[in-house]
Amino acid sequence: MNYIYLTQDILEKIKTYREKFPLKEQAIIPSLHEILEKYRDIPEKALEELSDYLSVPLADIEGIVSFYDMFRYKKNARNHIRICRNLPCHLAKYHNILEMIKEKTGADVGKNSPDGKWYIELVECIGSCGIAPAFLINNDLYDGSKIKTDEDLKKILDKYE
Ligand code: FES
Repeated sequence: MNYIYLTQDILEKIKTYREKFPLKEQAIIPSLHEILEKYRDIPEKALEELSDYLSVPLADIEGIVSFYDMFRYKKNARNHIRICRNLPCHLAKYHNILEMIKEKTGADVGKNSPDGKWYIELVECIGSCGIAPAFLINNDLYDGSKIKTDEDLKKILDKYE
């Protein structure tokens, strides 16, 4: 198969995920993040290419894309923060992280910050319940339980300024 969406840079990253995880299915989610990062969307054809490259059924990949909100992407600010609100993250008090992020960025759920730098979205499980409350900034995953102070959060946000 000739790949159009899986460009060389994406393929190299997918290859590292494939080598990192014992099961090829475990490479699906990080690979989808790479596609999302590049195209700001998940093109249908890219799913076929990913299915071919990883040798996993297309239906399995489509199932993941339709299950996780994070793959229904709508980036409208420079940085997209996705905070998980499902039960394990709820029990781990994701709303504390949300409030801190809102205060620091000036953005709100579903709304850009006035400076256009930040957009916050509450999403369903992002497959990282082991580090609840989990959140993503663009493609980077964070363990919210490690953020205890405003300064901890500032250090993270500063990386995206
Ligand atoms: S419930 Fe939050 S990452 Fe799974």
